[in-house]
Amino acid sequence: MRISIIDHPLVTHKLTLLRDEKTPSPLFRNLVEELVTLLAYEATRDVKVEPVDIQTPVAPMTGVRMSKPRPMVVPILRAGLGMLEGMSKLVPNAEIGFLGLKRDETTLEAITYANRLPDDLTGRQCFILDPMLATGHTLIASIDYLLERGASDVTCICLLAAPEGVENVKEHVGDRADVSIVFAALDEKLNENGYIVPGLGDAGDRLYGLVD
Ligand code: URA
Repeated sequence: MRISIIDHPLVTHKLTLLRDEKTPSPLFRNLVEELVTLLAYEATRDVKVEPVDIQTPVAPMTGVRMSKPRPMVVPILRAGLGMLEGMSKLVPNAEIGFLGLKRDETTLEAITYANRLPDDLTGRQCFILDPMLATGHTLIASIDYLLERGASDVTCICLLAAPEGVENVKEHVGDRADVSIVFAALDEKLNENGYIVPGLGDAGDRLYGLVD
């Protein structure tokens, strides 16, 4: 599994604003969108392209275009939805599927409660959007789901990661080259409630407000 941490001052600046508890939801949503676009630039480094002949106003040339089948972007509901706009800006031709996973707050295991994805993902490059890589259970379940359905490779885009979660995903995925994770910062640890420290709190609540 490949891991990329995007160490860039603009990313760290926006991430600091995002973490600040005084940042209100509208600004939080804008920052998430901007951060995802920056991370997506790196995450799409290996997107498949094919040659295409075009004519510029000056001369003919061979360029590239993204190959078919189109990439599949999979936001993990609910918080991953806040990352969709930023990703769509960079890859507007991608298809979008949805996976609803939440964690059981007692066991911290992932429970699937919604699925809007094709059964056959053969040859598809998939991009999972999930802001917080905490225990890694959600990401592991999502990666397995996509690979079992034939995805050619899976790239996870997260904002923050906890070392415990990264280790869990690494252990599960092993050394397979078709899974990678891109994130903006590796934080210190998980606390006893499964929150990333220092983190940014509950990403879903900060994006959309509290839901009981
Ligand atoms: N999910 C969140 O929204 N925040 C965390 O810190 C961990 C998981």
